[in-house]
Amino acid sequence: MPNPSLLILSGDGIGPEVMAEVRKVIGWYGAKRDLVFDVSEDLVGGAAYDAHGTPLHDDTMTRAQEVDAVLLGAVGGPKYDDLDFSVKPERGLLRLRKEMDLFANLRPAQCFDALADFSSLKRDVVAGLDIMIVRELTSGIYFGEPRGIIEDGNERVGINTQRYTESEIDRAARSAFELARKRRNKVCSMEKANVMESGILWREIVQKVHDEDYPDVELSHMYADNGAMQLVRAPKQFDVIVTDNLFGDILSDCAAMLTGSLGMLPSASLGAPMANGRPKALYEPVHGSAPDIAGQGKANPIACILSFAMALRYSFDQGAEADRLEAAVEQVLADGLRTADLLGEEGATPVSTSGMGDAIVAALDASL
Ligand code: NAI
Ligand code: MG
Repeated sequence: MPNPSLLILSGDGIGPEVMAEVRKVIGWYGAKRDLVFDVSEDLVGGAAYDAHGTPLHDDTMTRAQEVDAVLLGAVGGPKYDDLDFSVKPERGLLRLRKEMDLFANLRPAQCFDALADFSSLKRDVVAGLDIMIVRELTSGIYFGEPRGIIEDGNERVGINTQRYTESEIDRAARSAFELARKRRNKVCSMEKANVMESGILWREIVQKVHDEDYPDVELSHMYADNGAMQLVRAPKQFDVIVTDNLFGDILSDCAAMLTGSLGMLPSASLGAPMANGRPKALYEPVHGSAPDIAGQGKANPIACILSFAMALRYSFDQGAEADRLEAAVEQVLADGLRTADLLGEEGATPVSTSGMGDAIVAALDASL
C-alpha cells in the first residue's frame, strides 16, 4: 500500500503560520507512529495570484483531485480586496469545492472542558459537548432556479427557490450515516417538513436510506426551528445532525459559538468516494486569514490541527490516532496554555503560535 497522500495549501495571512504547526504534528505521526504521509505543498488564494495571476493554478486543481485529502489554511487579505471578482483569493477555494464536488460540509462543535467558561451558555450545558453538523453544500436555496429580482406590476419581487433532488438528499444522508458509524451511531435529520415540500422529500429519502442501508444507526427527525432551540437548550442530546444548505449554514454557526473561539473550530468538506473508497476531502479551519494578527505569532493553530485530526478520522480510518491528537489538545488546554484569542482567565500561560504547536507535540509524546 502506498503512503496516504496529502496536499497542503497554506494560503494567506495566518494560513502558513498555523499550517507550520500542523506540519510538526504530521512529522510526529511519521516519526513516532509509523504513519507516513506523502505530503506535497502548493499555493492557493492570494499567494497563488502573486505567483501565477490566478488564485488556483490548473496543475494545483489536478493535484487536488488526485490526493487522498487536501488540507487548506486560509485565503484572502486586504492586499487583494480590489482585485477583479474572477481572481479574488476566495475564488480559489470556491473552485476547489466546486470541482471536487464537495457536497457534505462537516462542522463539529466540540467543547473542551478547560474552555467551557468561554461559552455564552452554562458550563453544565456545554462541557464535554461533541456534536457534528453535516450541511448539504452544493444545492438547495442558494443554487435553485428560478432566482432573481423581477418586476411584478408596480413593485419588485425577490425570488429564490429551494430545490432538492432525491439523489442530492440521498448522498448527503449517506455521508451523515457513515460519519455516525465512526462516532456515537446517532443521526438527527432537520428540515421543515411541516411547511416545505422539499422538507417532506428530505425526510422521506433520509428515512429510506436509513431503512435500506443503515438500520443499525439510530435516526430521528426534527423540525429545524425546534432544532435551533434544542441546540441551545440541550446540545449534548445530539451526535450527528444532517440538514440542508440554508438551515445548515445557520445551525452550524449557532452550534460553533457554543464552544468559544474561532481559533478552535475545524471543518471538513467531503464528496463522493474515490476508487480507493476514501471520499474526496478538503479539511480547513473555519476561520479566515486574520490579517489583523498575521505575522505576529499570535494565531491559534488548534483549529487547523483539529482539521488534521478530522482527516485522520474521516479520510484515513485512524480514529484512535485522531482521539490521541484531540486528547493532546485537551491536555495542553487543561495545563493552562493559551494563545492570545483564549486569554482572559487568571493563571493562564500565554503562548505563541509555535509554542502551542510544540506543546501539542510534547503532549503527543507523553501519550506514548
Ligand atoms: P477571520 O476569521 O480571518 O478573523 C476574524 C477575527 O478572528 C479576527 O479578529 C482574527 O484575528 C480572529 N481570528 C481568526 N482566526 C484566528 C486564530 N486562528 N487565532 C486567533 N484569532 C483568530 O475573518 P475576517 O476578518 O472576516 O476575514 C479576514 C480575511 O479572511 C478576509 O480576506 C476574508 O475574506 C478571509 N476569509 C477566508 C476564509 C477562508 O479562507 N475559508 C473564511 C473567512 C474569511
Ligand atoms: Mg454561515
